[in-house]
Amino acid sequence: MFEQERTHTCGALRDTDMGKHAILFGWVHRIRDLGSLIFVDIRDRHGVTQVVARDNEKLLLLAKQLKPEFVIAIAGTVERRSEDTLNNKIATGEVEVAAQSITVLSEARRPPFQIAEESPVSEDIRLKFRYLDLRRERMQRNLNLRHRILMAVRRSLDEQGFLDIETPILAKSTPEGARDYLVPSRVHQGEFFALPQSPQIFKQILMIGGVDRYFQIARCFRDEDLRSDRQPEFTQVDLEVSFATQEIIFAIVEGLMQSVFEAAGESLDLPFPRVSYAEAIAKYGSDKPDLRFDMAILDVSDLFAQSVFRVFRDTVSDGGVVRALVVPGAGGYTRSQVDKLADEAIALGGKGLVWVRRGSGGEVQSSILKVAGPETLEKLLDAVEAGKDDLVLVAAGSSSEASGLLGQLRLRLAQREGLVDESRHVLNWVVDFPMFEWSQTENRFMSMHHPFTAPRQEDRPKLDTDLGSVRANAYDLVLDGCEVGGGSIRIHDAGLQARIFQLLKISDEEARSRFGFFLEALQYGTPPHGGIALGVDRIVASLAGESSIRDVIAFPKTSAAVDLMSGAPSTVSGQQLRELRLRTDS
Ligand code: AMO
Repeated sequence: MFEQERTHTCGALRDTDMGKHAILFGWVHRIRDLGSLIFVDIRDRHGVTQVVARDNEKLLLLAKQLKPEFVIAIAGTVERRSEDTLNNKIATGEVEVAAQSITVLSEARRPPFQIAEESPVSEDIRLKFRYLDLRRERMQRNLNLRHRILMAVRRSLDEQGFLDIETPILAKSTPEGARDYLVPSRVHQGEFFALPQSPQIFKQILMIGGVDRYFQIARCFRDEDLRSDRQPEFTQVDLEVSFATQEIIFAIVEGLMQSVFEAAGESLDLPFPRVSYAEAIAKYGSDKPDLRFDMAILDVSDLFAQSVFRVFRDTVSDGGVVRALVVPGAGGYTRSQVDKLADEAIALGGKGLVWVRRGSGGEVQSSILKVAGPETLEKLLDAVEAGKDDLVLVAAGSSSEASGLLGQLRLRLAQREGLVDESRHVLNWVVDFPMFEWSQTENRFMSMHHPFTAPRQEDRPKLDTDLGSVRANAYDLVLDGCEVGGGSIRIHDAGLQARIFQLLKISDEEARSRFGFFLEALQYGTPPHGGIALGVDRIVASLAGESSIRDVIAFPKTSAAVDLMSGAPSTVSGQQLRELRLRTDS
C-alpha cells in the first residue's frame, strides 16, 4: 500500500517546480512504450502530467503492466521535458516527472470507450457508464462550469440580502401544470406526498413568515414529456422578494446574471431589452424570441387589403393578417430550394407560403406573380425594404398562425444562412403575458403562468368582462431564444386569490383541499411579494455551448425518463408494496 500524501495535482507542475520531489495520484491516461523508455500520462480532474520511467528495470517492468484507467501513485523528480516532447497545449507541457516509484492502487477493466479521446460515443453508452464519461474532459469542464455558476449565484444573492432556505421534498401537490411524482405514505394508507414541481407555495409562505428575501437552489420534479431542454428532475434558482415590484425583481436578476456570466468568463450588457408578449408573438412568432439576430416579421396586411390577390384580400377582410419575413442572402435560392421552403412550411403546419424577390434584371419574381400582379409585389418589396439578395416570405392567417409559421422559418433560415452570431449571448425579458389562456381540451381558461400570479392593476376590471385580454404581472427571462426563467408579482389578497380560483373553475372544495392552508395563511398579514425561478440546467448548457441539458447534469435521465446507469425506475419487492398497501396491475 502507498501511504504518502500527494504533493501536487496532475495539473499543478510548472517549470518553476524543476528539481522538486513530487507525489501524484491519478488515472493512467495514455501510455507510450518505447522499450527502454516508457511515458505514462497520469490524469486527475486538474489536468495531465507526463511521467517517464527509464534506467530502472524493475520500474520499466511495472510500467509495462499498466493499462488505461488503472489508478496509480507515482513518486519522482520534476524535470524539464526533452525538446521533442514539449507540449504547449497543456499547462504542464514543459515538465515531466522522472519516476522513482509507481504503485498500482486499483486495476481497471478495459473501458467501453476511450477516456483520453473525445471520440463520439453513443449517449446511451455514455449514460450507462456515466462514471467513465464523467472522467472525460468535456464533462469535467461542464461540471466545473456548473459549480462556478452556482457559487456565483450564492455569492450574488447573499450580497443582495437573500436567505438560503430549504423547503420540503415530501410535499403537497403544487400547481405548475405538469403531472406530479407521487410518493405513497406508509403511515397514512391511501395518502400520498407529491414531489414539488417547484417550491412556489412554500416560498410565498416564507414571505408571510417574514423572511423578506428567500432563495434556494431547488430541485423540482415534473412528470412531463421530455426534450433536450427538459428533465423530470431539474434545478431552479428559486427566489422570492417581499415588497417587490417588477423593476426590483429585474434589477436583482440582472445583477445575478451578470455575476453568472462573469463566472463563465463572459460579459453581458445591462439592462436586458424588454419585449411585450404581444410584440414577441407578432414580430418573432414566439414568446421566447431569439434576439441574437434581427429578422423581425413585418405586417403587410394593408398592402393586400385592396389587392387583386383574393386569398390575402379575403384573409384581411375576415380579420386576419398578412405578414412578411425578409431572409437576407436567400435571394439566390434556386427554384427547387424555394419550392422546398414552401413544402417545409406545410410540414410545419402552415397553410401555405408565398415568396417574392427580384430577379437579376431587377424584375419581380414570385410564386403569386400571375395572380397578384407585379404592382402589389413591387410595393411589397419596397415596403419591407428588401435588397437584391433578399428573399421575402409571406404568410397569411390569424396573427398567431402567420407569425407562428414565419417565426419557425425565421429560426431555421437564420441558422441555415449563418445569420446567428454564436459568439455572443442575448438575454431579454418578455413582459405583459396574458393572465389566462383558453384550453380546448379542458374547455376553460387556464393560468398561463400559475394561479398565484397577480393581474396588472389596470386590467383588473376586465376580470369581470373579458378574461382573455387580462394581462398578468408576469415575466419570462429568455436566453438566445430559450426560456431560462419565469416569474411574477403575486396575489397577496385572499379575496382576489379565491376569485382567481373561481375564474379558473377550481371549485371551492377543490381550492380548500388543495390550497386551503395557503388561502388561510394569506389572511394573516401578507406582504406584497413577487419572485422568479431560473432554470439552472438551461443556463449552464447555454454557457457551456451544449445543446442538451443532459450534458451539464451529472446523472441525468434519458428522454424516456430512465436512469440507464442504475436502472431506475424499477420494480420493488412484494413486501414493500404490502407495507404501502399498494398493488400493481401487471
Ligand atoms: P416555471 O415553470 O416557468 O416557473 O419554471 C422556471 C424555469 O425552470 C426551467 N424549467 C425546466 N428546466 C428543465 N427541465 C424542466 N422540465 C423544466 N421545467 C421548467 C425553465 C423555466 O423557465 N414557480 C414558478 C416560478 C415563479 O413563478 O417564481 C416556476 O416554476 O427554465
